[in-house]
Amino acid sequence: MARATLYLGETWHVPEEPPLTGTGAGFVRGFRRGGLAVDASGKILAHAERDALRTQFPDATVVDLEGKLILPGFVDAHVHFPQLDLIGSYGEELLGWLERYTYPAEAAFADAGIAALAGDRFVTELLANGTTFAAAYASVHQVSAEALFAACEKRGVRAVVGKVSMDREAPGELTQDVAADFAANAALIKTWHGRDGRLFSALTPRFAVSCTREMLKRLGELAQFEPSVFVQSHHAENKAEIAAVARLFPEAAHYLDVYGRAGLLGARTVLAHTIHPTEAEVLMLATTQTVVAHCPTSNLFLGSGLFPMRRLAAAGVRMALGTDVGGGTSFSMWRTMASAYEVQRLQDVSVSPARLFYLATRGGAAAFGMGATFGAFEVGMEADFQVLDPARSRLVSARFSRETNAEARLFALLFLADDRLVESVFVRGRQVLAGPQVGA
Ligand code: GUN
Ligand code: ZN
Repeated sequence: MARATLYLGETWHVPEEPPLTGTGAGFVRGFRRGGLAVDASGKILAHAERDALRTQFPDATVVDLEGKLILPGFVDAHVHFPQLDLIGSYGEELLGWLERYTYPAEAAFADAGIAALAGDRFVTELLANGTTFAAAYASVHQVSAEALFAACEKRGVRAVVGKVSMDREAPGELTQDVAADFAANAALIKTWHGRDGRLFSALTPRFAVSCTREMLKRLGELAQFEPSVFVQSHHAENKAEIAAVARLFPEAAHYLDVYGRAGLLGARTVLAHTIHPTEAEVLMLATTQTVVAHCPTSNLFLGSGLFPMRRLAAAGVRMALGTDVGGGTSFSMWRTMASAYEVQRLQDVSVSPARLFYLATRGGAAAFGMGATFGAFEVGMEADFQVLDPARSRLVSARFSRETNAEARLFALLFLADDRLVESVFVRGRQVLAGPQVGA
């Protein structure tokens, strides 16, 4: 048997979904002086105390990370590739922001060279923040999705990627007719979907406003024909958007019904936002097992509203967390978790930090049907992890010197951690980032 590698440090993971509120005591599991044993194919052989690992694997290569934290890599369930340089664009709510900033920025991604350079920078931002799996929207152009897939493959990150589909209510250069959009999606699926078990395609009707019935129906047919392909879109983010959907689809019972009628809902569909759902929509999300990607920094930045997490959780709606860069203001899943906590505080709910961490790791993976593959440190899972050095932040190291409880440390990190702490990142046991990525 090829030699195992031991990564020895302080480990935590949240392998089971904690209750919505409470400190999460008992759910943040790991070892203060622990580690992972990883085989040559990148699978986890053991997650245990450091001394026990050394005894069990006497011939293993040892990577001593004493004093460092070893955590699962993060899952960003919703992010826009062409928007990486849009963060912090002043002034408007969703529809105005799309028109003024987003669409002009996305138009540049028709150029394969620009998309390739941006692809590499985008993947650097993901990895520098400890994110090892992202579900990303490219621009409408096939070349932009190709560029992002290629960058992810080259750098070893996991991703779901889709070119957005738009055939109205957007500048002409960003719309495509149904046949051209179908051909581009078919080509992307053929080349990339399932590649290396790490890269997957998503049909990505941007939102109901920018797609005709015909386009949605064709994408729904493609989703039925290729049932392993993901579907991603936006839903009920903003009141003016919801009013526009009601105007454009008078036959639909509600916004979600537009997607339902097209056959676009189900366990492999991830919808961003769902801030203003009706009761009927909540029920339909739950019964179709559709996932909602909560993107709190974006919801606050654009002033879209406060996500009804308690209501959706009570109804059994599946959830994940996303940054939604560039409506979202950070690539950091720590910032995203902190923002999710604050959004719930404004509604008198104190969300468990362990629940948020679960959503940012294994829960996020489970939202894409990959919860048995990565996101936690169970034997047989693939070793996706990030190594954090608490000493790189004065406040984190001071806090950790007096706080030893894992749940309390985790909660402090939600508000104190950032990309400075990330020392290295591994996907499937292979190092994909050596940090910190200062100035990269
Ligand atoms: N709805 C449709 N497109 C977008 C987008 O790019 N960002 C956000 N936040 N919402 C959208
Ligand atoms: Zn979005």
